[in-house]
Amino acid sequence: MLELKNIHKTFNPGTINEKVALNGLNLSLDDGDFVTVIGGNGAGKSTMLNAVAGTWMVDEGQILIDGEDVTKLPEHKRAIYLGRVFQDPMTGTAATMEIQENLALAKRRGKRRLLAPGITKAERQEYVSLLAPLGLGLETRLTSKVGLLSGGQRQALTLLMATLKKPKLLLLDEHTAALDPKTAAKVLDLTETIVNRDRLTTIMITHNMRDAILHGNRLIMMWEGRVVLDIRGEEKKHLTVNDLLQQFEKASGEQFANDQALLG
Ligand SMILES: Nc1ncnc2c1ncn2[C@@H]1O[C@H](COP(=O)(O)OP(=O)(O)OP(=O)(O)O)[C@@H](O)[C@H]1O
Ligand SMILES: [Mg+2]
Repeated sequence: MLELKNIHKTFNPGTINEKVALNGLNLSLDDGDFVTVIGGNGAGKSTMLNAVAGTWMVDEGQILIDGEDVTKLPEHKRAIYLGRVFQDPMTGTAATMEIQENLALAKRRGKRRLLAPGITKAERQEYVSLLAPLGLGLETRLTSKVGLLSGGQRQALTLLMATLKKPKLLLLDEHTAALDPKTAAKVLDLTETIVNRDRLTTIMITHNMRDAILHGNRLIMMWEGRVVLDIRGEEKKHLTVNDLLQQFEKASGEQFANDQALLG
């Protein structure tokens, strides 16, 4: 479903701010893979997702989504394949629009006309049935402006919108990091439910090693712009945080104390 072949990306080349962010990144995802991604600050995790999304063109390498070479495709043309949720609950939904208007936009994604004149009764019923299982009471607030919602409610709605059209790839960049622990757990549960129900191929970046171990069928660790660990199947099921720290130390040659602080 996704192939990243020898991806290189350097920011501000030739200046004092030059930064090699992706350095020969290789990753291949099967249809239905749910991969969690860990790695220290600046390891290149977000940059990898931006490379997939086409935020800018990569310097070198090839990107295939479901067999199609999208390496040179601009961001807006790749967007139809992708669902994305970021860390900041303020992004991903339109604050000044109603809940039902946001859902209508998500539903009409990829179609020519953005918003039809009104929202039909049938559509409203559909939105109620989508929102009710979240258990956040949003189904009774269809005409509320999204800006009035809490961070967790907004992230849940963003997740719903990002997955409404069953994207080929779901890209989650620390999407629960800004939420309180209880709300974060709820949004993670919801993520698990949607990903499993629709068998979505998913990449989820997290700084929480327990979450990385608990979720998905594969776990990768990034370091200095590359994948240095790729654990799956039975091995992933029996993985512990300690195993991970040890493996990271081996793969990166970096000091344990630092990594624990960065990854924990
Ligand atoms: N648009 C950009 N311009 C310049 N430098 C960038 C840009 N985006 C990322 N970088 C740099 O590339 C490196 C990798 O950044 P990236 O955001 O991918 O790290 P990360 O693994 O997501 O880290 P974190 O856990 O802190 O989110 C960093 O050194 C960062 O400063
Ligand atoms: Mg990041």
